Amino acid sequence: MSFDYPVRDFSALKGIPGLSDEQLAVHRKLYEGYVTNANQLRRELDAMRANGQMGSLAFAELNRRLPFELDGMVLHELYFENLKPGGEPIPKGGKFEKRVVERFGSVAAYVEDLKAIAKMRGVGWALTLQDPNTGWIENRWISLHQDGNVAGHTVLLALDVWEHAWSVDHKPTERAKYLDAVFPALDFAVAESRTR
Ligand SMILES: [Fe+2]
Repeated sequence: MSFDYPVRDFSALKGIPGLSDEQLAVHRKLYEGYVTNANQLRRELDAMRANGQMGSLAFAELNRRLPFELDGMVLHELYFENLKPGGEPIPKGGKFEKRVVERFGSVAAYVEDLKAIAKMRGVGWALTLQDPNTGWIENRWISLHQDGNVAGHTVLLALDVWEHAWSVDHKPTERAKYLDAVFPALDFAVAESRTR
């Protein structure tokens, strides 16, 4: 059975200080592109399956391209979900705070680590991931959308650090200005809800 992923509506996300509504609208448009392309690739692959082309180079190549689009779709949904004007602090006494202290010793050390990851050169993502087996968390760098994801680990927090995340508001060299705006908008109540 074939099905299409829907474009989720994040249009209510606006009014974030330092991150313009126009910037968010452009970013949502890019997100829609990932949904569209993921669906198109999946349909083309299904057509190849139906036409007996599964041994072709094209079938292999489209399968290799699919994770870029699919992870792009999923990570943007996680990112928009964990943004909110004014943000939300890490809930006191919650599961997320417990895991943060367990791993980093303090909330401040966790934030410092996440910022260091988010400042890495290149385009990608800074993620807080949780190992479902141990419960441990870690901040990880993901190149593009698909390189560096740990299979089966849960994304507790997603921070987009592709230049398109700030290119409407700031120059390519001004990632720091974007980070200054986006960190106060992180919704850690959402991270808490994703934590085991
Ligand atoms: Fe993005």
